[in-house]
Amino acid sequence: MTADDLKKQAAARALELVRPGMRLGLGTGSTAKHFVDLLGLRVAEGFEILCVATSEATQAQAVALGIPLSTLDETPELDLTVDGADEIDPQLRLIKGGGAALLREKIVASASARMVVIADDGKLVKTLGRFPLPIEVVPFGLEVTRRAVVEAIAAAGAAGELVLRRRPDGAILVTDGGHYLLDAHLGAIERPEALAQALNGVPGVVEHGLFIGLASGAILAGADGLKLLGRIG
Ligand code: 5RP
Repeated sequence: MTADDLKKQAAARALELVRPGMRLGLGTGSTAKHFVDLLGLRVAEGFEILCVATSEATQAQAVALGIPLSTLDETPELDLTVDGADEIDPQLRLIKGGGAALLREKIVASASARMVVIADDGKLVKTLGRFPLPIEVVPFGLEVTRRAVVEAIAAAGAAGELVLRRRPDGAILVTDGGHYLLDAHLGAIERPEALAQALNGVPGVVEHGLFIGLASGAILAGADGLKLLGRIG
């Protein structure tokens, strides 16, 4: 079974959580894409739902599938968000932002009564940080912000290279919000809460990919079947 098959299995299990009339946050990435595809099939059968997308890419996918969409301004309280993650630890702390959508993903998750993560079980780690931590920054004053981020990381007891994310063609990647991403290659984040707090205090940092206290449950698909963490239903 491929990693993509596992992602699809997790997405299919998450679809069972969706009830008619729900207000639903739609995540971003290859796993969330499976979920949106499956949801689109249900909508085509007449299932009623109202969704908010976490990226322009997911918005376009949902539009193409005929999924009814709203905005957080019109629908500021959501029942459930289903989204992927780059890493998950046993306490349901996450690294997100590999797909560059962390800012909207965090806003949508924070507006949701529940956030359920879907992933293949290779994303489950004891300690966060092997996946580079995305930090979204404003382009203005980039070097000043970069230096302050290095200090914040050190203050939280971590260290590692910061890499400005680029697109495959070499151009600087610009997020849906018009910002840049610094990927922090830390190896291990022993104190995620301390790091999150330190990064939150840096002017120029818009948001970071540490999602702490946001996920209520996770559906992890592996060769041995599905593993559920936290509260799913
Ligand atoms: C996008 C994300 C994605 O959820 C994360 O990168 C996981 O993606 P995938 O399902 O493709 O592995 O945080 O910003």
